Amino acid sequence: MPISGLSRLVSTSRGVLSRHRALPPCTSYRTSHRRFLQPVATPPTRTPEFAFAFDIDGVLVRSSDALPRAHKALSYLQTNRIPFILLTNGGGKHESERVEELSRKLSVPLDTSMFVQSHTPFADMDEYKNKTVLVVGGDGDKCRRVAESYGFKNVVTPGDIFTAYPDVWPFSRQWVEYYKPFSRPLPKPIDPSSPDTSLKIDAIFVYNDPRDWGLDTQIIKDVLLSHQGILGTLSESNGKSALRNKGYQQDGQPPLYFSNPDLLWAAKYHLPRLGQGGFREALEGVWAAVTGGKDNGVELKKIVMGKPHRPTYQFAEKRLISHRRDLLAGYEGDVGNLKRVYMVGDNPESDILGANSYESPHGTDWASILVQTGVYTAGSVPAHEPRMVVGDVLDAVQWAAAEEGWRT
Ligand code: G3P
Ligand code: MG
Repeated sequence: MPISGLSRLVSTSRGVLSRHRALPPCTSYRTSHRRFLQPVATPPTRTPEFAFAFDIDGVLVRSSDALPRAHKALSYLQTNRIPFILLTNGGGKHESERVEELSRKLSVPLDTSMFVQSHTPFADMDEYKNKTVLVVGGDGDKCRRVAESYGFKNVVTPGDIFTAYPDVWPFSRQWVEYYKPFSRPLPKPIDPSSPDTSLKIDAIFVYNDPRDWGLDTQIIKDVLLSHQGILGTLSESNGKSALRNKGYQQDGQPPLYFSNPDLLWAAKYHLPRLGQGGFREALEGVWAAVTGGKDNGVELKKIVMGKPHRPTYQFAEKRLISHRRDLLAGYEGDVGNLKRVYMVGDNPESDILGANSYESPHGTDWASILVQTGVYTAGSVPAHEPRMVVGDVLDAVQWAAAEEGWRT
């Protein structure tokens, strides 16, 4: 056994690792900006055929607090140059800002090349970069600025629409002052009498957990019931039973993207909190009430990304492979392919289901490890069975390294 003390392993159906185990002595490590990508004096003498993908909330941090043994777990991997990425359904800030923040919180050097947020894949959606997009969610207009940093040129927020037309949502009047500081004038007015010059939305992106569910629900509903995304109009197709989906979203309305499906997530409060998935469920409820819903053969057409969905794991795997190549630069031989990726998460519905169902085009085995420091709590049966259940992130790293026979 490479790591001492494994005899203290307590096995249940899937095996639960106990805590408090000494880490083997580490080799020394030097830092600089993109520090761990810099080839150190001694190029790697061997290449780990395994790597890690770490969820953030409930695994490394609980809101603003780092979890106790997260630093040790990540430093051990960096010292042994075992590649890892951070793969979160969170977001709401630019990757560089979040990486800086996490590096400080965890006292571990991190880099955007090893970091995937829920909306990071939106950066690849070039087809909308010169169109007008509605960006929803997050604090203030942070998500607008993230979208602009991805290259989206015409970004509108519900706050912009509300500031220009407060009557669009009568119940947030007390929030007019809240929105003013970060709202921007609309690129076009809402003028249904001249649809050609009225504000038209070409795509809706929910980047992060909405703060004002009422306003955001109203605006999204208005756009989806409009003619071709032109705000202030109503599509004549709506409710036409001869049409597919009873004519709803059949009249050039914009696509609706959600970046994160999480109904629940682990924040500072001792019980899981509603996430972006909660907002989506609420919106689906309103949509069903307005359209007649499933009973009437109507669904809300949408694209939901984020864990457990395949596009996010594909995106993350690409990132991990290129980060691994950088990390092992200087290695004499061929670094070979990744044999296994350990996905360490706290949420069975996203982290575990995602890794369990991901079939890698590279034949890499994605092994899921469930920790008990977040959404999932000890003793309950996880909705999706992980490869292993452990106490916390350090237990996960130790168990995986032992599985791989990694000796330091
Ligand atoms: O909003 C973030 C939450 O949904 C979960 O984030 O890091 O646990 O995937 P994470
Ligand atoms: Mg989590």
